[in-house]
Amino acid sequence: MALIAPSILAADFGNLEKDCKMVNSSLADWFHIDIMDGVFVPNISFGMPVLKAIQGIAEKPLDVHLMIVDPDRYVDTFADLGSAVLTVHYEACTHLHRTVQKIKSCGMKAGVALNPHTPIAVLEDIIPNLDLVCLMSVNPGFGGQSFIEGTFNKVKSLKTLIERKEAAVQIEIDGGVTDKNAETLIASGADVLVAGSHVFKAEDPEDVIRTLKQL
Ligand code: DX5
Ligand code: ZN
Repeated sequence: MALIAPSILAADFGNLEKDCKMVNSSLADWFHIDIMDGVFVPNISFGMPVLKAIQGIAEKPLDVHLMIVDPDRYVDTFADLGSAVLTVHYEACTHLHRTVQKIKSCGMKAGVALNPHTPIAVLEDIIPNLDLVCLMSVNPGFGGQSFIEGTFNKVKSLKTLIERKEAAVQIEIDGGVTDKNAETLIASGADVLVAGSHVFKAEDPEDVIRTLKQL
């Protein structure tokens, strides 16, 4: 059974309170929050005031995914805004070890996300310091894209690396997750499934979450 993290990016921003309450009352485990800066990715999502509003409603941990350059600038801010997990991109951090230390010293779980083209092998030396690795199964920047099939093998090689290093790291999959690929992802070693469109564009989002949770 995996943890389910609905991605608020796909929620109705005209009625965020309703969608956040749906996540509260559902079987979902975390809120997945996508922060995009229009530089690291070709899109801008939302920033601190919106996250603050979500924080005021959410009754489950906030899993914050930063798709921004130089994320060190905002680690304290995201801690203050109640992030339980703070994930930065490998491709956006020159001194990744320092960034990870900073996230942990602020009392949050530290996650690192890999773009689809980035090999698992780059995590060899940092993996013992991490709490979570987020494998992007789409190119980051937009919701509603198709799942990249190569992710299945990547999950397996990440699982192998984690076991070899005896690290306590959760594997999260982000992008294009549906009931069509979730079961194989879990069988391959995924611990956390992020799902945006599949949940929020459904007629009965709570039922979709329940189905994912039961796999
Ligand atoms: C993409 C984001 C994802 C996105 C997932 O850059 O990181 O979290 O919201 O959305 P779906 O599930 O629609 O692919
Ligand atoms: Zn995300």
